[in-house]
Amino acid sequence: MVSTTLLTKSAEAHSDILRQFQSRVEERTARVGVVGMGYVGLPIALLFSRKGFPTTGFDIDSTKIESLSRGNSYIKHIPEREIAEEVEQGRFKPTTDFAKLNDMDAIIICVPTPLDDHREPDLSFICATTESIARHLRRGQLVVLESTTYPGTTEEVVLSILEQSGLRCPVSDYSAGAHTHQDGVEAEFLLAFSPEREDPGNKQFKTFQVPKVIGGVNVASVLATQVLYETAFERTVLVSSSRAAEMTKLLENIYRSVNIALVNELKLLCLRMGLDIWEIIDAAKTKPFGFSAFYPGPGLGGHCIPIDPFYLTWKAHEYEFPTRFIELAGEINASMPEHVVAAVGEALNRRKKCLNNARILVLGVAYKKDVDDLRESPSLAVMELLQARGARVDYNDPYFAHLGKMRKHNFQMDSVELTAENLSQYDAVLITTDHSSYDYEFVVRHAPLVIDTRNATRNVTEYPDKIVHC
Ligand SMILES: NC(=O)c1ccc[n+]([C@@H]2O[C@H](COP(=O)([O-])OP(=O)(O)OC[C@H]3O[C@@H](n4cnc5c(N)ncnc54)[C@H](O)[C@@H]3O)[C@@H](O)[C@H]2O)c1
Repeated sequence: MVSTTLLTKSAEAHSDILRQFQSRVEERTARVGVVGMGYVGLPIALLFSRKGFPTTGFDIDSTKIESLSRGNSYIKHIPEREIAEEVEQGRFKPTTDFAKLNDMDAIIICVPTPLDDHREPDLSFICATTESIARHLRRGQLVVLESTTYPGTTEEVVLSILEQSGLRCPVSDYSAGAHTHQDGVEAEFLLAFSPEREDPGNKQFKTFQVPKVIGGVNVASVLATQVLYETAFERTVLVSSSRAAEMTKLLENIYRSVNIALVNELKLLCLRMGLDIWEIIDAAKTKPFGFSAFYPGPGLGGHCIPIDPFYLTWKAHEYEFPTRFIELAGEINASMPEHVVAAVGEALNRRKKCLNNARILVLGVAYKKDVDDLRESPSLAVMELLQARGARVDYNDPYFAHLGKMRKHNFQMDSVELTAENLSQYDAVLITTDHSSYDYEFVVRHAPLVIDTRNATRNVTEYPDKIVHC
């Protein structure tokens, strides 16, 4: 991490741009534009809007913009009143008009960073957004990339597109508070990376309570971002470059992916050994130091953990460096849906039934509990594998009344109501996502067989013979 005092000293002699930006932030006249009104961008836009900054939300999806303009929410955990209040006060303006980017003082990019069909980074959303910004870029603007990506994206991809505008933002090393300009050129715009560490639906930590890691391409950029983010976030953490900030986010997600793979593998071993992995994790986490609890499940889901580590794997090829932990974790986590399907087959077999033609009700299709997000959900992979083995699959999820066409799947199914009669008609109920709203006692009472991948039935004491943990 770098010292703010050192940086501030070195920046004092720095650009007018930084001083002007700072005073606009202090006066709350700085106009903040957030590009990408999704799970990440919308909460950030609302945060700056609530802090009194005139905030504009940009998106290419006109249905989202129309919905926001009416004060409506399309993300379950973001209440309508929070949006409506900012829109009514005139502080938050959603738009599809990218020419308005020119009016902004700060532009925050929160667009998707998926993997392509070859599981390589797909930077097309970042590039398209940056090209729009470059067309409207003017002197003095700050651009901050928040999308998760490999180290080097801000300097190598975003900077070079923005400089096609003719404006310059020289890269400089400020790690020791140094202030050196490339070619003696003064920055005409500012550029930084600040990873988004949002955990959608997390009631314990709100967006503003999660410290903001910031790395700039030069000292003025990191300080300008800090000045802005300090108004909205409880804490900022400065690192020595945009590449360090990009790598920080990947370390966090790789740490999760590897540890989830570890417990998933140990769960499989525990099942063979007749041990209960959940009991063991609960016991291990009583250690007050040196252990963080991770939990097994039917696989990895969400837009981040199954995807982001492979951004680093791709970049590591440039250095001829094999990222073995990432690959192994990916392999183990990706094999979990197959394990679940085998466990369903085994449980049916013990009841003298076979998977082919069995009626299976899958409980929970969201990638984790209590969210309305299907991206990379292992439940969908499990459903597809069950269907491929001839099972007749239905699902229930309070967050998804219908499953339509998705990028990788096309189920065209409606959520089945969880009545006693419906539950009793299935050969097995498979719990893949442990939503809090489910009444697990009711499910176990009425279903003939319950296969539980999340230990959701831990408090159900009736009918233990009906429950199979896997
Ligand atoms: N969702 C999370 O929990 C989470 C957490 C941390 C980091 N991230 C990262 O944040 C980034 C955004 O993720 P998200 O979950 O908010 O994605 P999202 O799909 O919910 O939202 C992205 C939005 O960007 C819009 N968009 C796409 N291209 C655009 C363009 N050219 N111009 C303007 N808008 C455009 C889309 O229409 C969409 O509304 C990703 O890099 C992701 O890895 C996500």
